[in-house]
Amino acid sequence: MNEIIKGMSAHRSIRAYQSENVTKEQIQMITNAARWASTSNHVQAYSILSIQSKQTKQTLAELTGGQKWVEECPVFFVLCADYTRQRYASEKHGVSFDVGGAEQLLVAAVDVALVAQNMLLAAESINLGGVMIGGIRNQPKEVSELLGLPDYVFPVMGLAIGAPGQDITQKPRLPEQAVVHEEVYNTSQQELIDTYDAEIEGYYLERTNGNRSSTWTELMAQYTSVRKRAHMDHFLKEKGFLQSEKGENEMNRFTGIGDIYCVGRNYAEHAKELGNDVPKQPLLFTKPRSSLALADGQQLAFPHNKGSIHYEIELVLKIDRDVNQEDKLVDVVSEVALGLDLTLREVQDTLKKKGHPWLRAKGFPNAAVLTPFFAFTGEEACQTIPFQLQKNGELVQEGYTSQMIFSLSALFEEVKREFGLRKGDLLFTGTPKGVGELKQGDHFSLYFNHEEKGSFTVSE
Ligand SMILES: Cc1cc2nc3c(=O)[nH]c(=O)nc-3n(C[C@H](O)[C@H](O)[C@H](O)COP(=O)(O)O)c2cc1C
Repeated sequence: MNEIIKGMSAHRSIRAYQSENVTKEQIQMITNAARWASTSNHVQAYSILSIQSKQTKQTLAELTGGQKWVEECPVFFVLCADYTRQRYASEKHGVSFDVGGAEQLLVAAVDVALVAQNMLLAAESINLGGVMIGGIRNQPKEVSELLGLPDYVFPVMGLAIGAPGQDITQKPRLPEQAVVHEEVYNTSQQELIDTYDAEIEGYYLERTNGNRSSTWTELMAQYTSVRKRAHMDHFLKEKGFLQSEKGENEMNRFTGIGDIYCVGRNYAEHAKELGNDVPKQPLLFTKPRSSLALADGQQLAFPHNKGSIHYEIELVLKIDRDVNQEDKLVDVVSEVALGLDLTLREVQDTLKKKGHPWLRAKGFPNAAVLTPFFAFTGEEACQTIPFQLQKNGELVQEGYTSQMIFSLSALFEEVKREFGLRKGDLLFTGTPKGVGELKQGDHFSLYFNHEEKGSFTVSE
């Protein structure tokens, strides 16, 4: 066995360290080894943050769930997936930038894993030891804030490194035949795994002087019994990853959506704040289906070059089936959503002056943001339930349907009579006071009865 393979095969994670420092030269050797890892498409979609500050390590130890080796190791690396350089490249060459798919996420995460393994092997080859820390994803948002990670960068794992201060036995691995398959996949592994169970049980008994007795399958069954770190989906979306693509996720979600009816000035206080008269009959307009976007935590882009864009939160009714003239609201609406009716305000003012339709001001892509649908408990029950919009954590709009000029039923009846309503049609029912401007980087959350129903971030 050559020295490299011998070194690799001697690995064990080290979680206790001698007090001596890891030298600058050693750190450089480790980070240099990282840079030579293979990388898909040469993207090198990673960044290494090298941390020696006691204070930062202490905070990171807390954020990783109280792992004391994070605090005690002489040097802690935070290894991040990072597409900021690709973003710069796209800007430099004037092309679009899309890393929102699962593939790009995999590519960057794989890059980080390869880098991490190179680093740990390099450290072990110079008689240091260490352990990778997935706990860095326990509170990724806080880690991001602490380390100033921008969009398109997120922590994948940590790596604690130091001179070993413990001598531990190696953890047995799955038998070779269980993980290495000859030519085709071998589905009959149960016996091998049962044997491995006994081996792992023995390992833990020995390591803990008989205090811990767990088999491998017991641990794995526990590991996969619930979805781990469920917050990661939302966090990754906020960082610009896992974006739903129009025509795919989004349109699947919106498949079956028909016409989108909206009403203006349906709350007296809102009509007043914009200096408009309270209308005598519902002021109806429509939006195209292409303006729909899902508030599922993703980033959304808007045409900021066309003037200010105003947000208006609304309760949105979804029509269950084709409606007959004798149908009442209660017969055909079982689900609602919260929506944001977005308006290019100056464009609308100009259109109004000219007496032109509002489509250009109200129908641009992402001008109708919708949360996922949820159960409608009836018009009366709805009246006392607040719906709210938070911008960057601050409440900016709050309304009750009881404050409407034209009730949900009145709007429903009007649209039914004037245009007819069909399965999948949506009815945006107007916004309470408090409308304001949406700016790049703003984060919006939509609440119904104090429960968050959806959110999105305005892309920069
Ligand atoms: C991506 C990744 C994340 C890990 N996260 C942690 C962690 O948060 N805390 C920890 O003590 N060990 C962590 N480990 C170390 C594993 O527990 C360890 O590698 C595994 O149990 C096998 O033990 P060994 O490395 O000593 O052979 C992590 C390992 C990997 C590869």
